[in-house]
Amino acid sequence: MNRNISEKIEQTNLTESSLRRAFVNESLQNIPLFFYEETDSTNTRAKIYAGSDTWRVKREDTVFISKSQTGGRGRLGRSFLSDGRGLYMSYLFCPKESLSSAIQYTARAAVIAAEAVEELSGTVVRLKWVNDLYAGGKKLAGILTEGRTDKDGRLEYMIIGIGVNVLASSFPEELSDTATDIETVSGNRISIPCLAAKIAAGFEKRLSDPSLISEYKARSFLIGEHVTVLNHGESYPATVLEIANDASLIVKTEGGSIERLSSAEISIRKRAKKN
Ligand code: BTN
Repeated sequence: MNRNISEKIEQTNLTESSLRRAFVNESLQNIPLFFYEETDSTNTRAKIYAGSDTWRVKREDTVFISKSQTGGRGRLGRSFLSDGRGLYMSYLFCPKESLSSAIQYTARAAVIAAEAVEELSGTVVRLKWVNDLYAGGKKLAGILTEGRTDKDGRLEYMIIGIGVNVLASSFPEELSDTATDIETVSGNRISIPCLAAKIAAGFEKRLSDPSLISEYKARSFLIGEHVTVLNHGESYPATVLEIANDASLIVKTEGGSIERLSSAEISIRKRAKKN
């Protein structure tokens, strides 16, 4: 194969060498990086590593990336399709803030990832509270934040797992109405290693930046929507009023009470068509 062509393919596809090169280009040569051809779940790998003596001594920010996952996990015990056409990455770090700020880390991570996708593909990315990236009205990526507290309630570590659908995919029937990928919405086949490195660099620089909340609000498309809230097994209709500075979602229920949600599943209710 012509050398230029083979180099281009390597830059687009995910190999350990292309990934390490992309990390060097983002000045991330010193960040510990674990790469897998296939693993169960990069969040699980990160969790196991966080319990090791190696991590406990240094508590260094560490990245885990796999070409595919056999047990990719999403929120609410759902699975996350990880067939090798996307980016599956987990970022392990030691947060300075308390457990209650977990939602803010998720929101900041969503903004950082949205910016990276936009910069590389040119497609406009919007956010669905709290952990989903959308483009063209469909879900492009999701974030699963997990953590562990010590006996005094302090966060020992936090893991931000992000899955991004990158290359054009034919999704299984149950996802085909709701999921999309970067290539389909933008027409551009972007480099998975470059996307990984850009997001990791953003996490390194800006994950503790509270000012990202204003960008989160600007990208959010739930404000004013009539939604169904699924919270602790209970489901009820509400209207979204705003996103607060601590990234919680403020809704008004049909009974008129105002609620501040820090974790819940939100789905937009379709309005009845007028004749
Ligand atoms: C969601 O959409 O509910 C969140 C999806 C998070 C998927 C990512 S892929 C990398 C990391 N490893 C996992 O098992 N899950 C996260």
